[in-house]
Amino acid sequence: MSQANQTTASTAVDVARTLSTKRIKHNRVTEVMGELDTLIYPNSQDSILLVCGPTGAGKTTLSRVMVDSALEKGVSQMQANGGVIPAVYVEAPSSGENNFSWKLFYHRILTQLGDNLNVPKMLYGVDEQTGRVVRPKGMNGNSLAALRTAVERGLRERQVQFLVIDEAAHIIRQTRGNQRLEIQLDTLKSLANQCGTQIVLVGSYDLYQLVSLSAQLARRTHVLHFERYRDDRPEDVKAFESCVALFEKTLPNLWEKGQLRRYTKELLENTLGCVGTLSSVLIRAAKLAEAAGSWSVSSLERALLNEAQRNRILEEIIDGETAIGPSFTRMMPKTKRAVV
Ligand SMILES: Nc1ncnc2c1ncn2[C@@H]1O[C@H](COP(=O)(O)OP(=O)(O)OP(=O)(O)O)[C@@H](O)[C@H]1O
Ligand SMILES: [Mg+2]
Repeated sequence: MSQANQTTASTAVDVARTLSTKRIKHNRVTEVMGELDTLIYPNSQDSILLVCGPTGAGKTTLSRVMVDSALEKGVSQMQANGGVIPAVYVEAPSSGENNFSWKLFYHRILTQLGDNLNVPKMLYGVDEQTGRVVRPKGMNGNSLAALRTAVERGLRERQVQFLVIDEAAHIIRQTRGNQRLEIQLDTLKSLANQCGTQIVLVGSYDLYQLVSLSAQLARRTHVLHFERYRDDRPEDVKAFESCVALFEKTLPNLWEKGQLRRYTKELLENTLGCVGTLSSVLIRAAKLAEAAGSWSVSSLERALLNEAQRNRILEEIIDGETAIGPSFTRMMPKTKRAVV
């Protein structure tokens, strides 16, 4: 073990922090973001887009990157008009109740919309000091209808181009029967249409499976597949190896050049080609190295998913890929088609 691999307790804490805050730019993110960029534009017919992928693929990270990047791009627009917010990220609440709590959900959106601008807060009955929704005089500001109106106006006034709803399966899972399912999605669709805001629903494959329970919904929503890197596709193996190399580069004091990369095959197999899972494994490995006082391959071995965990995730992935796969192969042929 060389000097470069020696790690003290204090540096290893930084190591874990550095790893967890560093975002690796990888092919899948670029692909999905590119497709979303193309599909998000004023007056688009696709008012609801679905981004589905395996657990640990990095969907939440992608969602945040997308919103951050829209805010960066919209900076001049925001400078010209302090009220503009081009994109909003919100996580659908899991309230523990049988039915999805639209109130809680609208509150969350209002919190994201509520800062910095006095006018809408007054109109919408959001307390300027606390940012909490208050009951305006003469009406029940906390009623579902008032919250919905506030959200609609907020999205419109803020000129929100797209709203990302992470963990979107919560909205549909807490629903009984196909009819209710359609009502939930219709509620979102009408929100989108009222405000000119496109909605991007993000979730694991269960979201896709829930949506495809209804033929009507399946037909009306465009699905983007945030796939894992597969070990049976050479281009995926190569892309995954680049991810490993990027993580390795993040911590030159812990990992010498090539030290992680040589385990690409094992890491791909263990993490099932999911970059988020890879990140979690590497953070754990760094922490274990911290406890051991120095880096060794045994820290990495102990950080890997165990067989039971891996099998459970693999089952879900296979089910999801099987469900989502056929339409995708039909819709996205490998050969380029001429644009007519
Ligand atoms: N591109 C990336 N670069 C660095 N770290 C990443 C990247 N993508 C994901 N991660 C990290 O991996 C972990 C899991 O990622 P994330 O939460 O985005 O996955 P997910 O697909 O949303 O998972 P879940 O289905 O469980 O919600 C997070 O700690 C995140 O910081
Ligand atoms: Mg997530």
